[in-house]
Amino acid sequence: MNQLVKHIAIASALFLVFSCQNDQSETVSESSGNTYQEPHRPQFHFSPKANWMNDPNGMVYFEGEYHLFYQYYPDSTVWGPMHWGHAVSTDLVHWEHLPVALEPDELGWIFSGSAVFDAENTSGLGTEDNPPLVAIYTYHDPVGADAGRDDFQTQGIAFSLDKGRTWKKYEDNPVLANPGIRDFRDPKVSKIQVEGRDKWMMSLAVKDKISFYSSEDLLQWTHESDFNPPWAAYGGVWECPDLFPLTTPDGQEKWVLLVSINPGGPSGGSATQYFIGDFDGQTFSTDQNEIQWLDYGADNYAGVTWSNIPASDERTLFIGWMSNWLYANVVPTEVWRSATTLPRELFLWGKSPEWHLASRPVKELEKLRKSSHEISGDTILLEEELVELVLTPDEETFRIVFNNSEGEQVILEKADGMLILDRTQSGLVDFNVRFPARHQAPLGELTVQRIRIYLDRSSIEVFINEGELVMTDLLFPQHRYTQIELKGFADENRLHYLQSIW
Ligand code: FRU
Repeated sequence: MNQLVKHIAIASALFLVFSCQNDQSETVSESSGNTYQEPHRPQFHFSPKANWMNDPNGMVYFEGEYHLFYQYYPDSTVWGPMHWGHAVSTDLVHWEHLPVALEPDELGWIFSGSAVFDAENTSGLGTEDNPPLVAIYTYHDPVGADAGRDDFQTQGIAFSLDKGRTWKKYEDNPVLANPGIRDFRDPKVSKIQVEGRDKWMMSLAVKDKISFYSSEDLLQWTHESDFNPPWAAYGGVWECPDLFPLTTPDGQEKWVLLVSINPGGPSGGSATQYFIGDFDGQTFSTDQNEIQWLDYGADNYAGVTWSNIPASDERTLFIGWMSNWLYANVVPTEVWRSATTLPRELFLWGKSPEWHLASRPVKELEKLRKSSHEISGDTILLEEELVELVLTPDEETFRIVFNNSEGEQVILEKADGMLILDRTQSGLVDFNVRFPARHQAPLGELTVQRIRIYLDRSSIEVFINEGELVMTDLLFPQHRYTQIELKGFADENRLHYLQSIW
């Protein structure tokens, strides 16, 4: 988040906290708050019971549980002093809320970061018999920031010896001091093999580059290299990197580097660019020379992957924050603010040497299906609100409209080689001038064979084919969409009504 915007956000957060703290806690505890039935409350996406969230953090799979930590401000529905909220899932679909895992301390607020299972107890923070989960996060010192210093972001660690239920901060924090750079954050650590030996590798967002650091023990870190090719997207600050290997369809190992950027995204504000290349244990290099985006919608930011997924699973699992710094603090929700995207599996597609990153919804989401219907014709009445729609286009162009009798509508169409998602009349849109927009994605060589759409109470996620092109947008209809109008589709389309996870 851009520092200026952040400071304005802090000021308004503090104002709100002081001016309506009592009101707010009453809203949450005494009224119908946090029942997951509020207007716009996502029904099959994760959102906190109450108050503000942003980036997903520290995702790690451990002993049958997917941990999801997240940037959380438990005292308000706008951004403020950051904590790590916490939830776990055994299926990536249903989530159990756990107490806040990390709270601010004298070194600062707890910004984004990652978590790993230190199976060999390299850190010495656990024992051989009970090795630790280790969280690596950014300390943001608000006092240093307000004093105009440059070194107010450092990296700290905490560990858990009880399946992530309680966390203890390392006593010699920070483990990585700041060299005098204002934006120095969001460590994503993973275990990699270099010349047959395990090594911890940290990707860190440093203003407008990614710096790689290595470590034997998660405590001492050595700078290895920087990555910032001249042709990349630099419309805003670089944040939340992630580095991981994937196998190409023809069996080669490639490395993918995700870099979130704010602002400067293709649909305005926040978005995530990616790079595909090679990593030799020290340096990331790529032959790519064009910007590539993970998602062309406006609302998939700061996403990263789960660590420690069992080898038998073979998937690379991702989740993002379903919002955008352009308007995240003012979207029209009460009680809570923000949600995650659907969990997605990342994989490579294309032909050597031009690889692209695809994201498809995880197969576990199929268990949300309550009833399934073959649909045909131009107009489909929607009997329920939560929908997965699978469509097969049979014409060069197509158009899908979800609408209601109040004249609210969201349109997805293919025109002039572009996929266009139009939310200008989707419902409540005027809380921010940048919200009502038509978002466009170039289809390039991609032939659209199938479209999978997930419609929740306040979002739409569009996956072309297997996820070769993706668009994620928030929507705030005041009444549910009750009808779908279709143009340009074959007669074999499927509609699934979905159940709520709450
Ligand atoms: C990304 C981000 C991170 C930072 C966190 C603060 O959305 O700005 O760079 O760690 O949010 O909440």
